Amino acid sequence: MVATERTTVRLVCAECGTEYPTDVPRYRCDCGGLLTVEQPIAALRGTVSRELFDARLASRARLDRSGVWRFRELLGDYSEAEIVTKPEGRGNLYDDPRLTAWAGVGELWLKHEGENPTGSFKDRGMTTGMTHARRLGARTVACASSGNTSASLASYAAGAGLAALTFVPEGKVSSAKVAQTIAYGAKVVQIRGDFDAAMRLVQEVAEVPEYGVYLLNSINPFRLEGQKTIVLDAIQALDWRTPDVIILPGGNLGNTAAFGKALEEALALGLIDQMPQIVTVQAAGAAPFARAYAAGFAPGSYQPVEAHTVATAIQIGAPVSYPRARRVIQNTEGIVTAVSDAAILAAKAQIDRVGIGCEPASAATLAGLRALVAAGTIPAGASVLAILTGHLLKDAEVVAAYHQPDPHGERPGANPPITIDPTLDAVRSLLDSLER
Ligand code: F0G
Repeated sequence: MVATERTTVRLVCAECGTEYPTDVPRYRCDCGGLLTVEQPIAALRGTVSRELFDARLASRARLDRSGVWRFRELLGDYSEAEIVTKPEGRGNLYDDPRLTAWAGVGELWLKHEGENPTGSFKDRGMTTGMTHARRLGARTVACASSGNTSASLASYAAGAGLAALTFVPEGKVSSAKVAQTIAYGAKVVQIRGDFDAAMRLVQEVAEVPEYGVYLLNSINPFRLEGQKTIVLDAIQALDWRTPDVIILPGGNLGNTAAFGKALEEALALGLIDQMPQIVTVQAAGAAPFARAYAAGFAPGSYQPVEAHTVATAIQIGAPVSYPRARRVIQNTEGIVTAVSDAAILAAKAQIDRVGIGCEPASAATLAGLRALVAAGTIPAGASVLAILTGHLLKDAEVVAAYHQPDPHGERPGANPPITIDPTLDAVRSLLDSLER
């Protein structure tokens, strides 16, 4: 008898392997472990190829125009009619010699996920998560958020016609992200507490079946499937050349987990030839993952912290995907590091100043890269793919504060606006004073 290959996805516990049905909402195993969507890799071997995904770049078909659903064979078995897409996942891949030199590496590519429809990488996970929510017949979706998931959830819920609730830490989310969420029609629920308190609450809410609330944080494994496509899309844009290092910011650690899964699957399917090193960068004031890494992930080395950083998107002290992310760092011989707020803002000023721009959390990547190269941990000749996770306009408050007048030279590149009288004389003396 010939064994038949599995052709559908399985939902399994990453800790004990228990399998659960995919058509019932569930976020954790009875043992407490996080769940993983297992794709039918063996069956996909003869089906997917670089050529298939390259051919779709020239297609105008609805799903092919999405930088997520272009890779649909790796995302599950949804029919086209089920899929909730805008499309998303079409951000640029930038290389700027000034940033490459500033980082001190051989090659630096910046994948801009802030160029997604709602201005952050979250749209990639939200298109798959919302598609799954619709398959389950969910009527209300929810998340805890430091702002970007909130905006993305609100937008995709509006597209799918579902009610949406976002639990955010009061006073700790940029006004642009709150504005997006309320404009898209979700109910913003401000929690008296921090992100981690909001995250705990929303998990409790989702566990009460009669509330009928489907959770779309990155604890939801179907969201991570969409986030896998960040690296697939970027490596395809590099003509399938795998960089030595992929560096990204870490908060709740969903992306770190998703990147590792994407790369393992891509390697198993022959889409890439080698495993890059994954480097996760946290803000020093919100760095439980970096601390555990520094202690060799020894038992007890992971301890949640009370998080404080200017990069509010990653102001997270108890990341839910910690176990998944730890495995990724261990399997890719990766690195976890932390950078100060001042280093984040200085790196952000560099990225902004060359005309690319990003939100503070995204700039942690460049700050971390520069520090790791200076320390000799990443070789100066390395080729590096850095992920910019959010758009510059996501946090205008931080930009305005940075570019205040800076008489003591504390903020490199500070560029405050000036005010003049409406006269040519005033313009002439301004031009005389400009460096040009
Ligand atoms: N960068 C930005 C701009 C983010 O919004 C986030 C997370 C991260 C990086 C960290 O990614 O959680 O996968 O490690 N923002 C979440 C939110 C928590 O609610 O918007 P992660």
